[in-house]
Amino acid sequence: MKIALITGVSKGLGEALAKLFLESGIHVLGISRNSNGRLVKIATKNNVNYEHYPCDLSNISELENVIEKIQEDVNRLNPSLFYLINNAAVIDPIHQVTQIENDRLAYHFQLNVVAPMILMNQMLNYSSSSNTTFIGVNITSGAAERPVYGWSAYCSSKASINMYTKTVALEQVNLKTGQKIIAFNPGIMDTTMQQTIRSSSKESFIEIDKFKGYKENKQLRDTDMVAGILIDILNDEASIENGKIYDVNEYF
Ligand SMILES: NC(=O)c1ccc[n+]([C@@H]2O[C@H](COP(=O)([O-])OP(=O)(O)OC[C@H]3O[C@@H](n4cnc5c(N)ncnc54)[C@H](OP(=O)(O)O)[C@@H]3O)[C@@H](O)[C@H]2O)c1
Repeated sequence: MKIALITGVSKGLGEALAKLFLESGIHVLGISRNSNGRLVKIATKNNVNYEHYPCDLSNISELENVIEKIQEDVNRLNPSLFYLINNAAVIDPIHQVTQIENDRLAYHFQLNVVAPMILMNQMLNYSSSSNTTFIGVNITSGAAERPVYGWSAYCSSKASINMYTKTVALEQVNLKTGQKIIAFNPGIMDTTMQQTIRSSSKESFIEIDKFKGYKENKQLRDTDMVAGILIDILNDEASIENGKIYDVNEYF
């Protein structure tokens, strides 16, 4: 049995990934604050399990409790392959650095960096000690490698996730565990995150007209299409390059 644990399953890319996993017969455990009735129906239709774990990933004690519960449930299912997709993230705060409030910055890093690192560390440890093959994916962004005016938090958090990915992979290669971890840049997609970007001010985000243009000119990709590319990468298990930052743009 194969299981995929995905964060941010209530909408956007996370929902699309959960849907494709369920449709290919893989059981899905989903974390987000809001539930998703569409995934429950898809699971029933495909005769697989979908379990939702409500959790605010910015809250460390909620995260620790949910990890404990997930490990108990996974133990019972005893999978041969375990995927972790760290997808949930926010773009806010969008501001020039002197205007950023401390608590919003702390929330951003807890959600975009600390929670994915804790989940990856814990689930990798769990999988290795239970002899389960583990493939971890951190969803990143092109912003990890390009400074964007107003996006200091997001550029820095995604750069952190890329370096974390490379470091974990280096350790796994040295330890000869066979466990793999990659990052995946999904490119620009038509989701709530893009709505948030378009609703910022030109003063906070000087590239706003370019991003409004992406929507107007239908350049934002559909999440199902992007999710399909990541699933194809994961299905070709032997070819997955440990520590690689995959970029969706290489597949178009
Ligand atoms: N959209 C783009 O153009 C784009 C481009 C490059 C990279 N990305 C990356 O792709 C990934 C998915 O983005 P998206 O566009 O699909 O985002 P989205 O539509 O805004 O969805 C974000 C997901 O994260 C969850 N989430 C947010 N805050 C949370 C919290 N505190 N606790 C638990 N879950 C939380 C949300 O669920 P709840 O609100 O129900 O909790 C939701 O399911 C992100 O890592 C993003 O950085 C997106």
